[in-house]
Amino acid sequence: MSQRAARGLAAALVGVSLAASLLPQGAAEAAEPRSARVCSSCHGEIKKQWEKSSMAHSWTNPVFQAFLADAKAALGDGAQAGCIACHAPLAAVTGDLKVTDPVNQEGVTCNFCHSVSAVDVSPKPASYTWDAADPNLMRGPFEDSESGSAHGSVHSPIMTQGEFCASCHWYAGAGEGLVFEGTHPQWKASKAAAAGKQCQDCHMPAAPGKASLIAKKTRDKIWAHHFPGAHTAGGLDSVASVAAAVESGKLKLTVRNSRGGHSLPGGGASMRAITLEVVYQDGAGKELARVPVQTYDTEFADANGKSPVPKWLAKKVARSNEIPADEPKVEWSEIPLGAKKAEAVLTYHFLLPAYRAALVAKQVDLTGRDPVVMARTSVAIP
Ligand code: HEC
Ligand code: HEC
Ligand code: HEC
Ligand code: HEC
Ligand code: HEC
Repeated sequence: MSQRAARGLAAALVGVSLAASLLPQGAAEAAEPRSARVCSSCHGEIKKQWEKSSMAHSWTNPVFQAFLADAKAALGDGAQAGCIACHAPLAAVTGDLKVTDPVNQEGVTCNFCHSVSAVDVSPKPASYTWDAADPNLMRGPFEDSESGSAHGSVHSPIMTQGEFCASCHWYAGAGEGLVFEGTHPQWKASKAAAAGKQCQDCHMPAAPGKASLIAKKTRDKIWAHHFPGAHTAGGLDSVASVAAAVESGKLKLTVRNSRGGHSLPGGGASMRAITLEVVYQDGAGKELARVPVQTYDTEFADANGKSPVPKWLAKKVARSNEIPADEPKVEWSEIPLGAKKAEAVLTYHFLLPAYRAALVAKQVDLTGRDPVVMARTSVAIP
């Protein structure tokens, strides 16, 4: 048995859901998971897309690393084993708990996803089964793959369904309402899911093409691997809208989630927030007031009631108010005396302001995490 396969067994003992029983007794050298670079010789386009996604940086991401250091300081070095189950999953399943192997540092990488053989769709963290017996057998959407000698191929229905993503995008704690990653259950309850739209349909949009440079077939559907989301340039365009009207002497604001197949900000509870602010002006266009109207987010509190705290310290929900997938949110604002114009602005914050300040003080690289205006609208006040 290779060192890695042996470490794999050790990982099963620390509680990662792993198909250890699939390791044949006395198996000869099990193949080892390979770097995305190996795949790129035949799947270059897919590799180019994937490497820009946040899943390719789920381990190296400086914001993740800063929070991981905090988690270890608060809970001890053992905390890392829990985090890597989703942020460096090949390290978890091969027992490389210190994440020293460069392949494991690739985060949510090709040879992790394509060797997942089953998902226990539940709020348990990392509820996947990774096939340690044969990391060279690729699970994918095709029933007639011609991959030649590079790797075996097998059709996997789960890879084509949102349930596959649930293994990391559904994660709940022990307390009431403690849902750290709730994207999967939110999606499941949405009209998008009822209409058959999978996570893949929105986050891996398909187009005709070839799955590999050397493939003979042109297929109707090749799924993109950019995994677009809030961190993608333009990823927040037209995702939400805000409408404003004066009713009964007050400003009525209607906020809609237009494209999300789940609530917004969507995932990453206690990390992200969307704020709604109104700027009032007088007849001369001079700013009279800047009024924070609402914050849409989920924030947790620790055992002492301190809030916000990140998911690993959460003991209860301090507040939860997100923009649901299929219903608008209506908010009201008092119009100040003399106001002639109101402008409502909806802004996406990748990090709660309280965390942002702490990360700035630690000089963590926050490139690409400036708040983004998602929508704005103006209305004249009679
Ligand atoms: C987060 C998990 C995940 C990662 C990481 C990932 N894939 Fe995929 N891949 C999928 C899913 C899911 C599908 C099928 C989508 C569907 O059928 O709805 C797929 C489809 C494919 C296909 C079939 C052709 C196509 O694009 O539809 C190939 C080939 C492939 N992936 C190769 C790769 C390579 C190479 C990498 C790394 C550079 C990679 N994948 C990274 C989940 C992943
Ligand atoms: C069950 C899977 C899972 C586990 C376990 C997990 N995470 Fe996450 N984490 C995620 C997902 C999924 C996201 C992305 C959510 C999103 O983008 O909406 C995320 C996002 C984050 C982010 C935000 C990154 C950014 O750039 O904004 C941080 C920080 C983070 N996790 C830290 C940790 C730490 C530290 C641990 C261990 C104590 C941990 N996570 C355990 C799944 C997990
Ligand atoms: C020597 C070339 C080559 C290399 C290297 C290679 N592949 Fe493939 N792969 C192919 C070909 C060819 C196909 C078949 C495409 C088709 O049938 O349309 C394929 C198909 C696939 C499929 C689809 C399987 C199915 O049944 O749906 C997946 C997933 C996949 N490869 C993942 C990977 C991953 C991950 C790596 C790296 C660990 C990798 N491949 C390395 C050539 C290669
Ligand atoms: C109908 C299309 C649609 C479906 C279905 C859908 N999403 Fe999304 N998702 C979006 C849009 C649009 C955004 C961008 C808005 C945002 O990032 O908040 C988004 C954002 C996200 C984010 C990023 C949030 C962040 O913090 O950066 C994650 C993670 C995510 N989706 C995961 C999933 C998963 C997992 C599923 C299935 C369980 C899914 N989505 C289903 C449209 C969809
Ligand atoms: C092994 C765990 C794992 C699996 C399986 C997984 N993800 Fe993720 N995903 C993560 C983590 C961890 C992050 C956060 C990375 C970070 O921000 O550092 C993330 C982030 C994302 C984002 C955020 C993009 C952005 O710009 O904010 C999207 C979208 C996403 N995942 C979609 C999916 C979809 C769709 C699937 C299923 C096809 C899937 N994920 C499967 C762990 C996973």
